[in-house]
Amino acid sequence: MPTAAFHFPRGFLWGTATAAHQVEGSNTNNNWWKWEQEGHTANKSNLADDWWGGRWKEDFDRAVEGGQNAHRLSVEWSRIQPAPDRWDEDALERYRAMLRGLRERNMTAMVTLHHFTDPLWLAELDGWESPEAATHFEKFVRKTVEVLKEYVNLWCTINEPNVYALEGWVDRKFPPGKSDLKLAMKVEANLLRGHAAAYHAIHELQPEARVGFAHHHRPMVPRYPWFPLDVLERNIHFSAISTVFPSALASGVMRTPIGNARIPEARGTQDFLGLNYYSQDTVAFDLRQPGELFGRRYYPKDSDLAEGGMNANIPEGLFTSLRWAVKTFPNLPILITENGIEDARDTLRPRYMAGHIHQVWRAVNFTWPVKGYFWWSLVDNFEWERGWTQRFGLWELDVETQARRKRPSADLYAAICKENGLTSDMVQKYCPEIFAGMFPG
Ligand code: FCB
Repeated sequence: MPTAAFHFPRGFLWGTATAAHQVEGSNTNNNWWKWEQEGHTANKSNLADDWWGGRWKEDFDRAVEGGQNAHRLSVEWSRIQPAPDRWDEDALERYRAMLRGLRERNMTAMVTLHHFTDPLWLAELDGWESPEAATHFEKFVRKTVEVLKEYVNLWCTINEPNVYALEGWVDRKFPPGKSDLKLAMKVEANLLRGHAAAYHAIHELQPEARVGFAHHHRPMVPRYPWFPLDVLERNIHFSAISTVFPSALASGVMRTPIGNARIPEARGTQDFLGLNYYSQDTVAFDLRQPGELFGRRYYPKDSDLAEGGMNANIPEGLFTSLRWAVKTFPNLPILITENGIEDARDTLRPRYMAGHIHQVWRAVNFTWPVKGYFWWSLVDNFEWERGWTQRFGLWELDVETQARRKRPSADLYAAICKENGLTSDMVQKYCPEIFAGMFPG
């Protein structure tokens, strides 16, 4: 049978994404370490993937040998600025070495400046509840960008501000573990101020830089499209979760279900949209959910669920997210900054990967400006409140011995990166169960 192929444009970025606290280990000076010691997480991060001990080198080798030409990592604020009036030049030097390591491997670096963790000193000053947080963040960003800009052109200011605010101030899964929607919205507004300040500061220091943020986007569909209350609930949840932050970047006004805030300096502060997509929710009106504004989010019964059920394999949802992105920000380049699935046994991951990359190809074929794709993640890493119970890596990690073992998906991803495309042979080899659907006839 002849091979069919979905090819991507030349120069497309193929990489994986990581975050400092999840891979470095021994990040003792931030609010997550404290949260772990207080017993709020399934396990503790401890050494994580031991990148701080130098294992980034072997993992970058794995990435480049796997055909990846880019990597998204984050820097840890509490290491670079251990106290408000102190910079740790050694920590900065280590990040320079890591970024040099990417350059030596011909890999494009994307650096995230805030990925969920805050220095303890900032948390003690009320963290992002305080309007001062944006000013502190800007100071940290200026120092970091000045030192690292030699190696970095792509900056991601803040990772998933919506998840950070909702998990920390509504769902109580992240520190500080509060439940107060009003405060959550205040935090999100302050994150917007922080993002805007960082955007302007980076451009001042490095005019050619491309700056954006990573948006956790959840497309949502109503349980019954003909039932107005389901549609209403879908719209409430969709706007509260998926559009508050990005639409403020489009308009300069942050609109939330409980009030609006004018943040004019945030308008237009994006050179690309970073899109994190994992799954799509169905939303139903439900009188038993007053705390959720009478809406229930769930996956339909016959869903292709990952172990534990946190995510379902719904590739079309990525296409829907990309359609939303091009409508909301016409002509703005898009980078898929995260996409992946928890699957220790690697039985679902290959079809999830092929299915989602196929949807990205469809978008590119419509000439939507998708410029790159970062898989979450390279090696299993510390998954926040879920600790080590969820495994997202192309490579499996033995937390005790630090040994890595390649999963079949790592070979599939390497084949895709090296081909700059997905072929029918790959699908046949790694996930034959979706072959007929993807290549009918
Ligand atoms: C995203 C986070 C990332 C990782 C994945 C699984 O929400 O940005 O750090 O935990 O989920």
